[in-house]
Amino acid sequence: MYLYMIICIIGSGGREHAICKTISLSSKISKIYCMPGNAGTQQLAENIDLDINNFKEVLKFLKDSKIDLVIVGPEKPLVNGIVDYLESNNIKVFGPRKIPSQLEGSKTFTKNICKKYNIPTAKFGIFEKKENTINFLENSKFPIVIKADGLAAGKGVYISKNLSEAKEAVNEIFDGKFGLAKKILVEEFLNGEEMSFFIVCDGKNFKIFKTAQDHKRVNEGDEGKNTGGMGSYSPSGLINEILESKIINKIISPTLKAIEEMGEKYKGFLYAGLMILDNEPFLIEYNVRMGDPECQTILPLLKTDLIDVCNACCDENLENLNIEWREEKSLCIVLCSRGYPEKFANNVKIDNLNNLKLNNNDFIFHAGTKEKENEIFSNGGRVLNFVSLSNSFKNSRERAIKLINQLNWKNGFFRKDIGYKIIDK
Ligand code: AMP
Ligand code: GLY
Repeated sequence: MYLYMIICIIGSGGREHAICKTISLSSKISKIYCMPGNAGTQQLAENIDLDINNFKEVLKFLKDSKIDLVIVGPEKPLVNGIVDYLESNNIKVFGPRKIPSQLEGSKTFTKNICKKYNIPTAKFGIFEKKENTINFLENSKFPIVIKADGLAAGKGVYISKNLSEAKEAVNEIFDGKFGLAKKILVEEFLNGEEMSFFIVCDGKNFKIFKTAQDHKRVNEGDEGKNTGGMGSYSPSGLINEILESKIINKIISPTLKAIEEMGEKYKGFLYAGLMILDNEPFLIEYNVRMGDPECQTILPLLKTDLIDVCNACCDENLENLNIEWREEKSLCIVLCSRGYPEKFANNVKIDNLNNLKLNNNDFIFHAGTKEKENEIFSNGGRVLNFVSLSNSFKNSRERAIKLINQLNWKNGFFRKDIGYKIIDK
């Protein structure tokens, strides 16, 4: 039985504010720290301004502050092995270790597992030289998908409509636009609908942790540049029992088996980015964390104490935990800085936030915000997440839009069509 736990959440986005809010509702905690956090987490936790990539400094703070449990939000520290480092120093951490985190950190790592375990995914080729990639492309059908290996923060994926676009992509990747790229992946284009499928895993057993869909493109109708995510909704309209069992049997279970056969265990959230074609799932990518902004729609639906979920995972006791969910439809709209995902201004004051009257089913999760002298300023491209729960996605969307309009932040813009595939069909 856990009581009065001191928790440290690592990260600073909307996902981490949602985690922070959910954990603040637990009766089992006494204090939350958020490292480095944002203006939203500051209202619930103590923000700690440390570089989360400096593991030594992080460890010192965790030891000095007698932290009982660390929850890691973003992928970068996971892929760089923060869990291995902290665990070897006797800190309890929720999140996967370095080798299983390569499911997100290296696309070729994942594709090789897909090949070996027959996991449905787009047909692909892996190349190490520019000339070989271009030779292959000259004999390919278009559109085609070109990806840089390694973490590229949601970028580094090109959908090329013809050979000249494809050549440009290959040049940009090999010229180091996304950091040193030793390998490039060329993939068949899958023309279906995307779904985000989440599980939580304790290294022995796993539980489904809901579905969601997100909108990555900046403009309405899913047009324009890729972003970190303009909005999302949960649950996905695509999910059904047959599809769920195909996802588990053809994708999730073989992946966990592969990790086990490497002598590793997968602990934490696992996010499968899927393409669904005629009720058949194909794996596009894995992420070793919750999605952002999917997390902001999923956590408000969680009835079970999130601290119980994290503890059960760390203690390899997930089998005995029943994860319960609310039935409402949850939808998130991201309010962004004008100009995002290209150039935008920072440090623009956000008035009015405290005047908004939220009911129990409304949540505002901060992402790029900062507090200075009791005032809130923008501090990033994606600034605030407006989440609403109701009996229909349409009502949830209307409510979120109403709140954004009430805020009336002059430097902001947002997509009014989040969830259109499920609302307007
Ligand atoms: P990723 O960073 O791998 O999630 O890719 C970014 C986006 O590119 C995905 O969300 C998809 O919309 C798209 N994408 C990636 N791979 C494929 C594929 N093989 N076929 C179609 N679309 C893809
Ligand atoms: N929602 C996309 C991501 O978190 O990568």
